[in-house]
Amino acid sequence: MEKFLIKGSSSKGVKGLINCSGAKNAVLPLMASSILFENTVTLKNVPLGANDVQTMIILLKSLGSKVQILKKKKILKINNTKKHKLLVKYQYISTMRAGVLAMGALLGKYKKCSTALSGGCSLGPRPIGYHLAGFKKLNCKYNLNKGYINIISPNGIKGGHFRFPRVSVTGTSNLILASVLANGQVITISNISIEPEVLDLIKFLRNGGARIYNTGKRTIKIYGVKKLNGHQHEVIGDRIEAFSYLCAAAITKGKIKIKKIDPKHLITELKVLKKIGCIIKVDKSSIELNRKNNLKTTNLKTAPFPGFATDCMPMLMAVLTKAAGKSKIEETIFTNRYMAAPELVRMGAKINIKKSIAFIIGQSNLNGADCISSDLRSTFAIILGAMAANGESCISRVYHGLRGYSNLYNNLKKIGVNIKKKS
Ligand code: EPU
Repeated sequence: MEKFLIKGSSSKGVKGLINCSGAKNAVLPLMASSILFENTVTLKNVPLGANDVQTMIILLKSLGSKVQILKKKKILKINNTKKHKLLVKYQYISTMRAGVLAMGALLGKYKKCSTALSGGCSLGPRPIGYHLAGFKKLNCKYNLNKGYINIISPNGIKGGHFRFPRVSVTGTSNLILASVLANGQVITISNISIEPEVLDLIKFLRNGGARIYNTGKRTIKIYGVKKLNGHQHEVIGDRIEAFSYLCAAAITKGKIKIKKIDPKHLITELKVLKKIGCIIKVDKSSIELNRKNNLKTTNLKTAPFPGFATDCMPMLMAVLTKAAGKSKIEETIFTNRYMAAPELVRMGAKINIKKSIAFIIGQSNLNGADCISSDLRSTFAIILGAMAANGESCISRVYHGLRGYSNLYNNLKKIGVNIKKKS
């Protein structure tokens, strides 16, 4: 099991340039959607170093897709000429929740499939009740047997209207995937997620021939088509990765530039970083953060896009452990998103969690400690604490971080973090 040893310092700021990877949460639905296409789909700017992408490749191969990896060019070519198998096994869903997206794609193409039901994860319960309620509105029937959802649309996907009770990112993508090939049917979906990753999926499907129209801020109308044509698509930059490295400069009084990222995808998060005292410069595809002064406190709530992203919250919490005074964060999306807090407390941070709210009292000094990471984003939050703490920290179970961050170790080294791997 890999560990990171980090020698931090309260006085040495990180410096440098990071080329942002393609977004993990954009590429996974794009890959799942390849099942719907007639001919080869080419995805560029794929974060091949993120382990979830490797899991999705194995999942697609298990269904019968041919996947060609051009590693140096960060390209995936996915070909689906053969009929797919209609079983998505538990081993893929249990390690990567986004595997559930194969359900919508298989349902859209073949009108039936069996998919392992995802359990919870370290963030709390991860139900798919909205996905299933949406499929039911489209004339699908399902049952649960031995941990698998068997779902079928006996007379094909039918038109209708589904409103998500609350915004769901993969729920939105799954329902779109099930709908786009419902030839001749009209499907309306409202209260959808408008996360940049979902909009990237919609763009990709439209360019392949799907007829998806915005009819309101969170409403789309889909006119089912007969087929989708494979084409090339460049995956958007990973806003969560970009934010994570911006926080590295924010917590260490450093200066960093992130390239290949659209600042509009971090509109709220950049406002918050400015508010707490960071100097931010943006252009069309880059963000630069320079932190010269002491950090200020803030109060915020996480929310679906364009609100402050829950995925960015653990890193912001780490940064606020160094702000002068008391900050307050409310997590509104997941029940268990403060896994980094007890580890940061081991470094001397003062964080008090009451239900979904974290109260953070900034400290001038943190001290290195042994820590365990337990989910993807909290791994980065703990790394941030370790960078800013005096002395050495040993962070175990960093494999959680490797699920979503390509090139994590090398990028941290590149910006000047004193880091070593330990097995
Ligand atoms: N929810 C339900 N029922 C459902 C679906 C969702 O109650 O059927 C609830 C969830 O429990 C949660 C809320 O609705 O409280 C929102 O969940 P959502 O469905 O939006 O989450 P997700 O699609 O499973 C994606 C990202 C997560 C990210 C969330 C929120 C992917 C692969 N995952 O998850 O990313 O935190 O949206 O933005 O896109 C990460 O990358 O670290 C990560 C966890």
